Amino acid sequence: MKKIMLVFGTRPEAIKMCPLVKVLKTLSWCDVKVCVTGQHRQMLDQVLQAFSVVADYDLSIMKNAQTLFDITAAVLHAFPPVLLREKPDMVLVHGDTTTSFAAALACYYLQIPVGHVEAGLRTGDIYAPFPEEFNRQAVSLTAALHFAPTSVAKENLLREGKKAEHIFVTGNTIVDALNTTLLPNYSHPLLTWAQGSRLILLTAHRRENWGKKMTHIFRAVRQIADEFENVKVLYPVHPNPQVTALAQQYLTGQERICLTAPLGVVDFHNIMSRSEFILTDSGGIQEEACALAKPVLVLRDTTERPEGVNSGILRLAGTSQEKIYLACKELLSEPSLLRRMSTSVNPYGDGHACEKIAQLLKQYLS
Ligand code: UD1
Ligand code: UDP
Repeated sequence: MKKIMLVFGTRPEAIKMCPLVKVLKTLSWCDVKVCVTGQHRQMLDQVLQAFSVVADYDLSIMKNAQTLFDITAAVLHAFPPVLLREKPDMVLVHGDTTTSFAAALACYYLQIPVGHVEAGLRTGDIYAPFPEEFNRQAVSLTAALHFAPTSVAKENLLREGKKAEHIFVTGNTIVDALNTTLLPNYSHPLLTWAQGSRLILLTAHRRENWGKKMTHIFRAVRQIADEFENVKVLYPVHPNPQVTALAQQYLTGQERICLTAPLGVVDFHNIMSRSEFILTDSGGIQEEACALAKPVLVLRDTTERPEGVNSGILRLAGTSQEKIYLACKELLSEPSLLRRMSTSVNPYGDGHACEKIAQLLKQYLS
């Protein structure tokens, strides 16, 4: 029996790895262990609960307002003893968080093969997004297997000299997750609040947007809510103190803007699918929006998801107040643009990425 360990620590990793945990656990050829770093606490626990996944190890590393040094050092301190005890044949990490980078580094030091889920996304600028572009490039250096969500991601890896026989295009496991979270008959008090209005869903949390850029984002959102009386903006605020302080400063006191705590993933996906469009600097939400055919104005200057931009669903709105305001205004005023952006081309797969990854792992490990 082969032992596979999945390690993750933040909300988006959990949403994309839990479906894989569930699939691997149905297979008799592998013993599955889950180690969560707890880089996120409440937001991670919300996801584990939603998918009924119970971790075998919880490193509980989160500190309030943690630095990149805190996260990296804590994972490198707490994860190796788990690896030494369990001696997995393969460790799976996801994407581009500091949990993934530090866990992959620990595996490399112990010469344990790493499988990288959601491999090959690139902007080419290690400061955008920061520190995610560095993290994913560093994980790629350690990986024995690269599970690329799209052929664009595969091409990125080939350009960096990774061997074609180690790269597999699987689709993104987020589409698998959506298959289980979307509900046909769904209601929520926040949807009742938004009834009769045009609902814009907002999220913003990226490190490189903290401070000035986030202020621009929030001012633009405020301008839109003040000007368009038929618009309501829902913003589940990321609990990072850097974000909550600015959100409180710029977005409170307007009845058409609702700030809430982070929503559970089932609520978030269902509310997202019922919104008119989305403003976000999130990575995962760009992919989900493509799967749901929901227009997105990306609150960033660059994106590692060009597939979504090419399909017409994502538009880079940048991080200046003026540009974001104008992009929103255009979407609100031109129904034909909104329709064009609500295209049903989904570049992120058919919702069977987890089965494909499981099959590839079986081949590799046997
Ligand atoms: C992390 C990832 C980022 C990912 C994001 C998803 C890194 C460096 N960053 O960024 O790639 O896009 O998660 O959301 O890996 N906090 C809580 N409760 C929680 C989670 C966070 O209170 O459940 C607060 C804490 O004060 C914590 C802070 O948010 O210190 C920042 O968390 P951190 O994981 O460092 O950064 P994120 O911005 O969440
Ligand atoms: N999400 C959620 N509740 C929220 C906001 C987001 O469950 O209130 C989910 C969302 O559906 C997506 C993921 O969190 O799957 C994205 O996480 P985030 O934006 O924090 O990180 P990123 O994808 O940018 O790394």
